Amino acid sequence: FEEVSLVKSLELQQHKTSLFTVEVPQPQYIVEYGSNVTMECRFRVNGKENLNNQHSNYRGRVNLLKEKLQLGQSMLQITNVKPTDAGTYLCLIGYEGADYKTITLQVKAPYRNITKRTVTVQGTAGHSEWELICQSEGYPKAEVIWHNGEHQDFSAKANTTYEAGTDQLYSVTSTLKTNTSVNETFHCVFWNKEFKENTSAILIIPGNVS
Ligand SMILES: *[C@@H]1O[C@H](CO)[C@@H](O)[C@H](O)[C@H]1NC(C)=O
Ligand SMILES: *[C@@H]1O[C@H](CO)[C@@H](O)[C@H](O)[C@H]1NC(C)=O
Ligand SMILES: *[C@@H]1O[C@H](CO)[C@@H](O)[C@H](O)[C@H]1NC(C)=O
Repeated sequence: FEEVSLVKSLELQQHKTSLFTVEVPQPQYIVEYGSNVTMECRFRVNGKENLNNQHSNYRGRVNLLKEKLQLGQSMLQITNVKPTDAGTYLCLIGYEGADYKTITLQVKAPYRNITKRTVTVQGTAGHSEWELICQSEGYPKAEVIWHNGEHQDFSAKANTTYEAGTDQLYSVTSTLKTNTSVNETFHCVFWNKEFKENTSAILIIPGNVS
């Protein structure tokens, strides 16, 4: 009798696991801040959603698309994606058994709009010095690299500060002080290491200064 029941329980288990296989066609999504994303998982039986544990951050922005459940497809849609949405999502299907797969969501906000300013300041020994300032918002944190037209690196002389920007983005401000000559060009490069993306602005030391 023991053998029979063992075989049965094995059969039952095999039956169960084959019923509840969950698959994710795309295990990783990289999404731009402010856009919408629909993450998909597939399974072989009908499921029920459980959005009871929804965090307040997601209120009004998360939909589980129900019309596809009959087809064994579960689509989680997030609108107006924010940096805090980044992380690992679990697609868990439970129906007399359970299986799950994970989906990773990465969020990026490119440092597209760079505001630049060039101001003169009184330096030591009466010479005027320049303060070159570049500011932008994005996510995740970017390093700011400075170089001149001859590709000499000035980054070590710059002061870069990180503050909370709008909607969980970083507001990055970098200031380079220099006593350079007129018409020289400088580049500030916002280097988003995680996504290997660079954006930059050019600053030119103006000529007519009294
Ligand atoms: C995101 O979805 C919302 C609601 O469906 C829609 O109003 C908005 O236009 C979408 N945004 C983008 C960038 O597609
Ligand atoms: C960098 O800038 C911040 C804010 O303006 C200032 O408090 C700090 O002293 C500066 N650091 C250096 C090394 O200049
Ligand atoms: C971005 O800029 C940094 C510093 O100038 C450089 O080291 C890096 O290779 C650049 N990356 C890309 C993808 O251009």
